[in-house]
Amino acid sequence: MKYPVVCVGRDSSIRKTIQEIERSPFDAAFVVDEAGSYLGGVAIMDLRRLLISGVQEMEAVGGYPLKHEFGLTEENLRNRAEAGRLVSDMELYGVHFVPLLAPGGKVKDVLSIEDLGRMHGLETNNAAAAKPAGRVLVVGGAGYLGCVLAEKLLGRGFRVRVLDSFIYGRRAIDSVAGNGNLEIVEGDLRNIHTCVQSLEDTDAVVLLAAIVGDPASKIRPTETIETNVLAAQALASACKLHHIHRFLYASTCSVYGVGAEELDERAALYPVSLYARTKIESEKIILGMGDDYFSPTILRMGTLYGYSPRMRFDLVVNTMSMKSFTEGEIQVFGGKQWRPLLGVEDAADVYIRCIEADLADVGNQVFNVGSDAQNYQIDEVARIIGRALGDIPIARDGSNLDARDYRVNFNKLTEVLQFKPGQRIDASARQIFDKLKSGVIRNPAQKIYYNHYFDSAEE
Ligand SMILES: NC(=O)c1ccc[n+]([C@@H]2O[C@H](COP(=O)([O-])OP(=O)(O)OC[C@H]3O[C@@H](n4cnc5c(N)ncnc54)[C@H](O)[C@@H]3O)[C@@H](O)[C@H]2O)c1
Repeated sequence: MKYPVVCVGRDSSIRKTIQEIERSPFDAAFVVDEAGSYLGGVAIMDLRRLLISGVQEMEAVGGYPLKHEFGLTEENLRNRAEAGRLVSDMELYGVHFVPLLAPGGKVKDVLSIEDLGRMHGLETNNAAAAKPAGRVLVVGGAGYLGCVLAEKLLGRGFRVRVLDSFIYGRRAIDSVAGNGNLEIVEGDLRNIHTCVQSLEDTDAVVLLAAIVGDPASKIRPTETIETNVLAAQALASACKLHHIHRFLYASTCSVYGVGAEELDERAALYPVSLYARTKIESEKIILGMGDDYFSPTILRMGTLYGYSPRMRFDLVVNTMSMKSFTEGEIQVFGGKQWRPLLGVEDAADVYIRCIEADLADVGNQVFNVGSDAQNYQIDEVARIIGRALGDIPIARDGSNLDARDYRVNFNKLTEVLQFKPGQRIDASARQIFDKLKSGVIRNPAQKIYYNHYFDSAEE
């Protein structure tokens, strides 16, 4: 068949059908009878709704009403008027694929709405159905990484729901706010009702929302534990009950804390902050929930850098770029400590790769996210940025304010997802410098650019 659409027998259990659809790039399956004749289609959303309403997962999928019973024969495929009617119906019901039936009703091939349109020179407009993974819930989608990810997901045709309490304001998602595929929910993940409601009609969940960074978590320990651990656990648990298998959890290489060796995913963890400890705790809880219904992916990212509509100037590359502009000098504390860096756009691309990957390749697993080539000592970061921005002087302070010192191995990510970084720190530093120079960012001292000031965010 041209497209590997899932075909299940009418006796197939709802559970098995959901699993097969989850592992495919489609959001629906064709249901056939014992003789292989087409009976109709079933969407994963409808199956999830059945389970939530109390239907047993081992019940047969054919026992419930099927949808989209459009079957196409060679004969009506040749008829332009019939093909045109079919295309309109498919657009109306958001169906992207239709089975081509042999005499007797067996599924012989699968055609997409574009195939039908091309054959008869018909205009097709079925963008809504062309999503490989439907709707993605991005919790924390107005944050530094979240707003970049949301925009990229929309660009790839996903429907996106952003749930965010807008600690740092909502301006970051202004540029995409008018997109018809974006839904914005203002709410707190710690509210159980909001948390569960946000899962309606969702295929994949990305959990970014957290109290982020060592200083912020130190200032707000209670909120950190509530958000980073308890709310994360509640969301993961609700996903599992909703049969949302794909769950991407944003963790951090800070879980390694200190380490002399290049650390891979099996290395021992030495957290040096509450922030890192909450991330480790959530990793354990979420991975522990993994089973046939729930296949979480833990993404331990390096320290992010680069321009984002929700700019953060409390991340090392961004701080140095900003200080080069405002003070004409880069300050380095310590300098010998190792830190893996990762461009914010690259990070967003990794999330998209995970959403589009075969769940068997990425589910129930931990990945370090970054690249071996971007493990840097802080001194070197300062030198690269200083050079990129025109020989900015570097002021050194021997005291190391940050206890973290670790080099990370990224082989697994490279092998499984073929990830190669596209961003570089010198180019990103120049971009940030230009945003400041051109006035796109007018006052980098504003509190909204720093996570540890979040209780007094100002516009
Ligand atoms: N930035 C980095 O260098 C880095 C590195 C490794 C891992 N991470 C992880 O990536 C994720 C995103 O980081 P970021 O830099 O984009 O952070 P960020 O602080 O810019 O974004 C977090 C977002 O979550 C929202 N949020 C916080 N608590 C919430 C709640 N209770 N309910 C709803 N929304 C809430 C905030 O309003 C904000 O928009 C975090 O989980 C972080 O731990 C970040």
